[in-house]
Amino acid sequence: MPKTKTIYVCQSCGTQHPKWQGQCSACGEWNTLVEEIEVKSKNKIERSPSNALNRPQRISEIGAVGEERKVTPDKEMNRVLGGGLVEGAVMLLGGEPGIGKSTLLLQLALQARGMKILYISGEESAQQIKMRASRIPFENEQLFIVSETRLEAILAFYKNLQPELVIVDSIQTIFSETIESAPGSVSQVRECASQLIRLAKSEEVPLFLVGHITKEGMLAGPKVLEHMVDTVLTFEGDRHNSYRIVRTQKNRFGSTLEMGIYEMNNQGLREVSNPSEIFLSQGNELLSGVSIAATLEGLRPLLIETQALVATSAYGTPQRSATGFDLRRLNMLLAVLEKKCGFSLGNKDVFINMVGGIKVEDPAIDLSLIVSVISSLHDLAVDRTSVFAAEVGLSGEIRPVSRIEPRIAEAAKLGFKTMYISTQQEEGLTGKYPGIQLIGVQKLEEVFNRVFS
Ligand code: TYD
Ligand code: MG
Repeated sequence: MPKTKTIYVCQSCGTQHPKWQGQCSACGEWNTLVEEIEVKSKNKIERSPSNALNRPQRISEIGAVGEERKVTPDKEMNRVLGGGLVEGAVMLLGGEPGIGKSTLLLQLALQARGMKILYISGEESAQQIKMRASRIPFENEQLFIVSETRLEAILAFYKNLQPELVIVDSIQTIFSETIESAPGSVSQVRECASQLIRLAKSEEVPLFLVGHITKEGMLAGPKVLEHMVDTVLTFEGDRHNSYRIVRTQKNRFGSTLEMGIYEMNNQGLREVSNPSEIFLSQGNELLSGVSIAATLEGLRPLLIETQALVATSAYGTPQRSATGFDLRRLNMLLAVLEKKCGFSLGNKDVFINMVGGIKVEDPAIDLSLIVSVISSLHDLAVDRTSVFAAEVGLSGEIRPVSRIEPRIAEAAKLGFKTMYISTQQEEGLTGKYPGIQLIGVQKLEEVFNRVFS
């Protein structure tokens, strides 16, 4: 009989505590401690492959790995992976339930015609996956599906099949018989992930792990997983919107600035190669409270429509609400308008929305947002051929933004005629982009005078 001991493991950070407590003393999270049985014999599991030949090598002697990439048929996926699949790379795809993680990876597997792929589902039966696959208009004879949750069985399937890519959907459903605690607990997830990662590394096979994200935006259970894998991708989007974005949170083989955009339709996910089109609402009529910002999502310029609604507040405390934008930043910008430009917004409700359900963190959106607010406040429409790209400082000054040139090029390509940027950035660029007039501005008043004249 192996000796067992009860321990309490924080489901957020994985720290073990001898006694239950309300707050994890390591990560500060509340109510994350869960009772688990620690089996002493577990320690007998080999922690790392013993390699008698292992020795320190000169850096010049080490053969380059990760250079060779298998380019997948999915361009957006290649982009977020930094060019394609790397041998032995482990990629964690996180996202809320129902966002489309299974669809994304199944579609990738179906598209990669001729590539031998093992797709392990711990959540759906093979028939359910078949049903989903029949909606996706691709076929891959070499795609093998199995519904399995036992780690030991999965490792055996790999040995028999020798696939070129393994997909495990999801890591939280997989459990090892050598560990006492329940599937989905930190110990199980950590141990199963580390064994799968070891498999990927020793067999040099790329491996996708699907991970669920809890409401708080954390990978359910162990945050530890993020440290163990090579690449962390998150799949996000608004449930009521068909657009989905894959972002790279961490990537040992490429940039973390990348993102891929898809549209969910009844045939799976469609790659969106020209994202600006979807974040600009259609129609040419002039509406107040709307303007266009040239933002940058990762390395890609993206033109996004910002919408504002300013209305007299019916009740005492005015409401401020922002969808797709940081509420604190909105409050800051409103304070600048009030204090530096003399607009009275103290008794107004202000609502902000980014078209297309995207979340924007780029400060270059500030100017467009302010213009939309003033446009709504005074009910004056903004010319639809104008676009804005500047940060706004605390004293109402217009500040430069990163990588202005791709933004200008994108706006010019989409047929915009005027672009408002900071004066500092205008220098040297005038005339470089024919077809679009650059207007350098220093203060918010200058913008208002020109836009609403
Ligand atoms: P799913 O991949 O199951 O999400 P996850 O694995 O992240 O939990 O996606 C489920 C949603 O995708 C479901 O609401 C239906 C939708 N969907 C489509 O709209 N079109 C399709 O072709 C497919 C396969 C799914
Ligand atoms: Mg799923």
